[in-house]
Amino acid sequence: MTTPKKRVGILISGRGSNMLSLISAARAPDYPAEIVCVVSNRPNAEGLAKAQSEGVLACTIDGKAFDSREAFEDALDTQFKRLGVDIIACAGFMKLLTPGFVKRWHDRMINIHPSLLPSFKGLDTHERALEAGVKIAGCSVHVVRAEVDSGPIIAQAAVPVLEGDTPESLAARVLEAEHRLYPHALALFATGQAAVSGERIAGPQVPINQEKALFWPPLGSISGRDPNQT
Ligand code: GAR
Repeated sequence: MTTPKKRVGILISGRGSNMLSLISAARAPDYPAEIVCVVSNRPNAEGLAKAQSEGVLACTIDGKAFDSREAFEDALDTQFKRLGVDIIACAGFMKLLTPGFVKRWHDRMINIHPSLLPSFKGLDTHERALEAGVKIAGCSVHVVRAEVDSGPIIAQAAVPVLEGDTPESLAARVLEAEHRLYPHALALFATGQAAVSGERIAGPQVPINQEKALFWPPLGSISGRDPNQT
């Protein structure tokens, strides 16, 4: 008997490029999750039309149309429950969620953030990474906890920072990694290969099939000395 696919609801606020990467991955017959709806808190989010043109149910639950955050979140909850959603995937969802809603979806809600968490939580991630002079940036997918951009980390990708990078050029390079990382992380989470245990994600246990460390700038480059060379 085949395991039923997890039913995923995606929350967006804007462009929706990560949403599209999940929709596209979920088209594969062997992908362990299906995207059952996209919900935006902003009526003018570009991602809404993109989801519709992919044939995915998309709607707005306008954050500004409710008297309280709790009332807004009750409407979200009702929509997701009505559609039998198992996992909420936040994809550029920029509205803060109350601890109460996060608790209701405990270990059933994940998020993508464009930094190597726990560094650079919050907004203006790339500006702050460049200001700090980091050589390696990246992105993370994590299980959502009440504190913003925190919670057990499912997967991360490291991305080099290039000389002359602007926040926009770095954001574009990280976004390419996001589009590959999020479908991978959702699949791990949906199958239970990445499961929360003691506020960390245990496993999966897989052999390393690539370089053990990413060196940036690369070892032996230009005038740098490769310590492996004698
Ligand atoms: C992405 O870079 C995502 O990681 C970030 O917003 C962008 C949304 O782009 N999310 C956060 O900063 C959440 N803290 P998209 O709408 O094209 O997916």
